[in-house]
Amino acid sequence: MTEQPIISLGRDVAIPQLGLGVWQTPADQTADVVKCAIAAGYRAVDTATIYGNEEGVGTGLEEHPETFLTTKLWNTDQGFDKTLRAFDVSSHKLGRASVDLYLIHWPAPRLDLYVESWKAMIRLRDEGRVRAIGVSNFTQTHLERIIGETGVTPTLNQIELHPEFQQHSLRSFHASKGIHTQSWSPLGQGRTLNSPIIEKIAAKHSKSPAQIIIRWHLQSDLIVIPKSVTPSRIAENIDVFDFTLDATDMEQIAAMDRPDGRIGPDPLTADF
Ligand SMILES: NC(=O)c1ccc[n+]([C@@H]2O[C@H](COP(=O)([O-])OP(=O)(O)OC[C@H]3O[C@@H](n4cnc5c(N)ncnc54)[C@H](OP(=O)(O)O)[C@@H]3O)[C@@H](O)[C@H]2O)c1
Repeated sequence: MTEQPIISLGRDVAIPQLGLGVWQTPADQTADVVKCAIAAGYRAVDTATIYGNEEGVGTGLEEHPETFLTTKLWNTDQGFDKTLRAFDVSSHKLGRASVDLYLIHWPAPRLDLYVESWKAMIRLRDEGRVRAIGVSNFTQTHLERIIGETGVTPTLNQIELHPEFQQHSLRSFHASKGIHTQSWSPLGQGRTLNSPIIEKIAAKHSKSPAQIIIRWHLQSDLIVIPKSVTPSRIAENIDVFDFTLDATDMEQIAAMDRPDGRIGPDPLTADF
């Protein structure tokens, strides 16, 4: 396998551009899934409090403390003090005194606590308990507010992003602020895999549809975290460093973007 790309998040923190997502990975399978991914060459894992599998991730990474580990603050834990306490719980479950990246999972605007939560994230970073801090599902408005009120810009925003929902406007705003974009549901939760455009490009390169889509994220400078519990797919999804999509392939995938391509909740209206 060719060496994997690493993206600098600043402050001496670097994240592998490709990692394993574990949403909907059953808690009792998570340790084995994570070990399988490590054996396949993954060096980053993305979990969250709400996934209910932080303990499994911790067990799976016991022998690999160098693996880049992300977890997220759940909505009901938002607020300054509650964020600090929630981090303690996650840290304990993960078996790590410090975590590489801690994200606010959703802005949850109805709660109106994301600025206070962000202040607690800054505290955790300054205390060295978290190496980098970011957010997830934040819109430009939410980002502008936390930056404006604290002067601290998130290193990364993890958002729904796949060929049918490419988020160009938010990505441009990220670029203007030096915020990295991380793609969640990068395979469209599997729905994008049987698109005729993707299948045609896959046949051209003798690769699978998932490999084509993951390659598209990588070549688009996105950080990507495909999920699978299936060992053959876990290996397949990281076997993407021996080919390149050409300009025509990239243009064809660019044309798959749809205004109504969102699969998950809209952060502005999500009723948590
Ligand atoms: N921040 C957020 O709000 C948020 C929201 C959603 C997701 N995420 C993160 O993003 C990660 C990835 O997103 P996701 O889990 O929603 O969806 P995804 O990675 O787009 O797709 C996962 C689905 O695709 C299947 N799959 C994976 N590789 C495949 C392959 N090579 N061939 C055929 N099918 C394949 C998986 O099946 P099997 O597992 O059965 O193999 C699973 O059903 C999550 O695990 C989580 O870490 C974050």
